[in-house]
Amino acid sequence: MEQMAHDISEILRQQFLLHFFTIFICLDHIWLLRWDRAGLVVSEPFNFAEEPQHLYTFFYRFACMDDVQRGRDPTVVPASEAEVKVMRSIDQFDSAWHKTQYTATMTAGWPIYKVLIPEEDVISTAELSEGRKDRADSELSEGRERGFLVGKPYFMSDSPTGRGTRGYIAYDVAEHRLVFLKEYWRLDAPTYHPEGEVYLRLHSKQVPYIATPVAAGDVLDATGGMHHTRAQDFFPDPPPKLIQYRIILEEIGKPLEEYETSFELMSAMYCCIYAHMKAWTEGEVLHRDISRANLLMYPYRNDDGEIEWLGLIVDWGLCKYKDELGLPQVQNTRSGTWQFISAVLLAHPGVFPHAVWHDLESFIHVLHWLCLRFHKTNYTESDDNRESLLKRVDAVYDHSNKTRNGISVGGQEKLALMQDGTLPFKLVAGSTGQSGPGLYRLLTDLSALCKEHYKWLKPQLPTATPEEEKEEGQGQPQRSRSRLLPPRRNVVSAVGPTISEAPAQPVLENHTKILDVFETMSQGKWIPDKKIEDQFAHSNTTMDQQVKLKRSSEESISLDERPGKRIRSPTGSASVSIAPQLGSISENLKG
Ligand SMILES: *[C@@H]1O[C@H](CO)[C@@H](O)[C@H](O)[C@H]1NC(C)=O
Ligand SMILES: *[C@@H]1O[C@H](CO)[C@@H](O)[C@H](O)[C@H]1NC(C)=O
Ligand SMILES: *[C@@H]1O[C@H](CO)[C@@H](O)[C@H](O)[C@H]1NC(C)=O
Ligand SMILES: *[C@@H]1O[C@H](CO)[C@@H](O)[C@H](O)[C@H]1NC(C)=O
Repeated sequence: MEQMAHDISEILRQQFLLHFFTIFICLDHIWLLRWDRAGLVVSEPFNFAEEPQHLYTFFYRFACMDDVQRGRDPTVVPASEAEVKVMRSIDQFDSAWHKTQYTATMTAGWPIYKVLIPEEDVISTAELSEGRKDRADSELSEGRERGFLVGKPYFMSDSPTGRGTRGYIAYDVAEHRLVFLKEYWRLDAPTYHPEGEVYLRLHSKQVPYIATPVAAGDVLDATGGMHHTRAQDFFPDPPPKLIQYRIILEEIGKPLEEYETSFELMSAMYCCIYAHMKAWTEGEVLHRDISRANLLMYPYRNDDGEIEWLGLIVDWGLCKYKDELGLPQVQNTRSGTWQFISAVLLAHPGVFPHAVWHDLESFIHVLHWLCLRFHKTNYTESDDNRESLLKRVDAVYDHSNKTRNGISVGGQEKLALMQDGTLPFKLVAGSTGQSGPGLYRLLTDLSALCKEHYKWLKPQLPTATPEEEKEEGQGQPQRSRSRLLPPRRNVVSAVGPTISEAPAQPVLENHTKILDVFETMSQGKWIPDKKIEDQFAHSNTTMDQQVKLKRSSEESISLDERPGKRIRSPTGSASVSIAPQLGSISENLKG
């Protein structure tokens, strides 16, 4: 079964399929299987020698079906030769990185397809500032479609079930430009907000450093049929179905981990936290999935026409609106990407509702994780330490075990770090020990905030758990503060947050203190820390392979954690169904 699940996931990665049939044969017994993103439906086994008619019937019916009935997605068609030629002719790119990525989409072995998007899914500038789609306008354009050409995906899920997210750097035929196309299967639940809707809301409130949607919507056939899953109906207490969803974004962001200087890293994170604050205070939207994959860098052009890489926060698929956070069906959930979920949500599931500070803590975990990966720490001093580094990363970010009722818990190491106000590593060289703006100061100031916050939190915690070289930037002129950064703030204390013996404050409850830290860092002369080679890069030990495997299957999860119900963690088994009780989905959680 595991082999078959793997093969199916490969097929789903390479083709545009909505569902899929397979036959499993063991000696003289046969099982018929139907796969879709909600799970796998398996027939009762039958003995082929004794009851061959079942197989004959299956094949007869299969032969009578057309390709769409067999699972082909009719909204994706092969691109014409002329279209492919135009696509290949593109030679204007936002950056060298964009060029490399775009070229990679046209790799041999990946035919170019045209994804058809109905004209009524296109979002106009007026609709963006209005914050909603103009339905009357949509009716006019009924039936018309826009084509987006795609080749090899930029990223894709490797699980046969779940959201099945695929991202493409696509060519927009109508506008003759490159855009980002993402398709996935969204949950059909009342408090689930399709990303297009969230972007409209955020844009109407002028939230900065977010992507601009070009088009978004549930996928419909030419016949008006919606693409949704059926496997969920076979569960005793059926969870919501999944609906295929596409969103096209104007911005193609570069992963945060591709930052070149520590200053760039800090600036990008600053922008993302600022955007997160605006989304919350103005848009009343809480992101709930802050991870290294959802924080990007984007080349913004300043007044002098120069490019500056700043932050871009994406993937609002797991967000909730402020007025929903108190609802029972929202309160008892945990969402995010395991490695970056806050310590208490991992260690004490179901105790704390997901609030602003959990996301702020996730930003800090992302920063720590990137420092371990790309900066000189006490772990990188010698080669022998590579293994201890990976062990440490595993213990802090990946570790999980299950309680008796099957709920995944983890985060014990993170919790200890937060409470002590310490880092999972010691930064070496660069800005270490310097009081001026630099990574060291940023990290220590943030840790001080965490310590204070967790001191305040302590009474609320359950007592028992449920079970030397050329320095970067040398010779660079002192930079003045970029005007593209978030507007200047009035920071009261210029020298880090003061931690007194007085009753601890929930300093991460809102964005004020954390933004103060970043604001302080964005002024004055930044002390650089050189980015070094990827410390998590593949080497040949089994340990490494395990870590690598886990990372490749690192995906967002949204878990329903009603007490006593099973959920799966990143180290769970290679199970291929939505647990029937979930009422929510979890992604490829192969360990
Ligand atoms: C590195 O520093 C961290 C934080 O001080 C410490 O917990 C860890 O044991 C150190 N590891 C090594 C290998 O020196
Ligand atoms: C989970 O693992 C951690 C660290 O190995 C351990 O301290 C904790 O007791 C374990 N929890 C359960 C519920 O087994
Ligand atoms: C943030 O919280 C602090 C208390 O922790 C409060 O004094 C401050 O006014 C809050 N700021 C905003 C913008 O709500
Ligand atoms: C890992 O293995 C590959 C081939 O199996 C080899 O070329 C490479 O040098 C090895 N790397 C290390 C760090 O040992």
